[in-house]
Amino acid sequence: IPVDPFDFIIFGGTGDLAERKLLPALYQRQMAGQFTDPTRIIGASRSALSDDEFRAFASKAITEHVKASEIDKSELDKFLQRLTYVTVDAKSGEGFDTLKATIGDSKAIRAFYLAVAPSLFGSIATHLANHGLNEGDPRIVVEKPIGRDLASARALNDAIGSVFQEQQIFRIDHYLGKETVQNLMALRFANTLYEPLWNSTYIDHVQITVAETVGLEDRVSYYDTAGALRDMVQNHMLQLLCLTAMEPPSSMDADAVRDEKLKILRSLRRINGNESPRLTVRGQYRAGASSGGAVNGYTEELGAESDTETFVALKAEIANWRWAGVPFYLRTGKRLAERVSEICIQFKPVSHSIFEDTAGSIPANQLVIRLQPDEGVKQWMMIKDPGPGGMRLRHVPLDMSFADAFEVRNPDAYERLIMDVIRGNQTLFMRRDEVEAAWQWIDPILASWSENHQTVQGYTAGTWGPSASIALIERDGRTWHESI
Ligand code: BG6
Repeated sequence: IPVDPFDFIIFGGTGDLAERKLLPALYQRQMAGQFTDPTRIIGASRSALSDDEFRAFASKAITEHVKASEIDKSELDKFLQRLTYVTVDAKSGEGFDTLKATIGDSKAIRAFYLAVAPSLFGSIATHLANHGLNEGDPRIVVEKPIGRDLASARALNDAIGSVFQEQQIFRIDHYLGKETVQNLMALRFANTLYEPLWNSTYIDHVQITVAETVGLEDRVSYYDTAGALRDMVQNHMLQLLCLTAMEPPSSMDADAVRDEKLKILRSLRRINGNESPRLTVRGQYRAGASSGGAVNGYTEELGAESDTETFVALKAEIANWRWAGVPFYLRTGKRLAERVSEICIQFKPVSHSIFEDTAGSIPANQLVIRLQPDEGVKQWMMIKDPGPGGMRLRHVPLDMSFADAFEVRNPDAYERLIMDVIRGNQTLFMRRDEVEAAWQWIDPILASWSENHQTVQGYTAGTWGPSASIALIERDGRTWHESI
């Protein structure tokens, strides 16, 4: 469905995010026929570029990051004609006059995308306001890291919030734009089957894994100051946990959903100082093998000693009526054995087995919601092994692999999210109080790590993390789900 005309202003228009994600995503939406004239995309950054040079940059970005079969020369040309460029200095404010003049008195929807370092969020917001560009209900989009702890997150939220209203601020967590993540809501709330079982009576525990095979990539300076807890758990993984655990919202309305997620964040039992060695594991990869080749360890990639974790495993508990006693085991890391992200809901076993050959050991049902790499849902069930050989049971998946079920291109998360910005739909964006509640739970973990001198444990690149991660879950008589 086409959206109304809009002006999309990308600060950091020549940066990495614009190149890899934003411009390709916008191009895909052009291809899908969603743009109405006179939609414009305005690049803004410090580099001095002409409109044509910015178009050349965008053209290259799209050619490199979109499959050749999805590039249509005439649509690409139409898309490039929408692009213009303004040189701005986010710190001094130089160039904002030109930006204002470029936008002119356009009545189109206006969205400012801050694809820049968070240290510039405040000054960009202020310069926009000083030029009256916060008037007429624009949207402003920011992305993590929103702070490195509660205090710095509050400061950033204050800086933006002093000139934009909360309903104009779109805090992106790109995991919320992933198809399967939204499917989790469909699965839970559009089927009668699961919701009655979705609680501590029937669910033994939940596992959330986001495993990557990549190492540091070119993000050394950011990553070493962040680490996996801040980079992945505070945002993506807690969002996955919230969507899995929240009560049914009364509608898909932005605040209805976000109110429910917030309640979960606030119900997370705080991990106290002396508990962190038992409930959390920090790891850092050492040299090993990944994707078929030898790779360096983290400190070699970094070129310095470091105690930054590239792996975290932890046991979280939600202290509310539905989830009391149901642990949520979370793990994420770089340079792990496989790239796989999934949520695994482990049901309780049947209370009594009537089948002799499996007496007492019928594997429990498992619902595996796979986000990456191949999206889909598998419901593991027990069935009878076919044939006349007696009553033998087998654990098999009801497999709904989306690639097989639907012959459509799987859109990138940014495509969905950018269009939601234009439509003004905040359901898949984080509200200020959510971000801060997440930090409120993360801060004590960070504090206890430093108080307890809980240093990183090495793991060989290409494995599933430090052995302590296996011990964390096996101590409870459970095991990490092996993706099949
Ligand atoms: C980002 C993190 O937010 O998410 C990266 O900063 C991580 O470290 C990335 O690699 C993972 O995203 P995806 O979509 O590839 O799972």
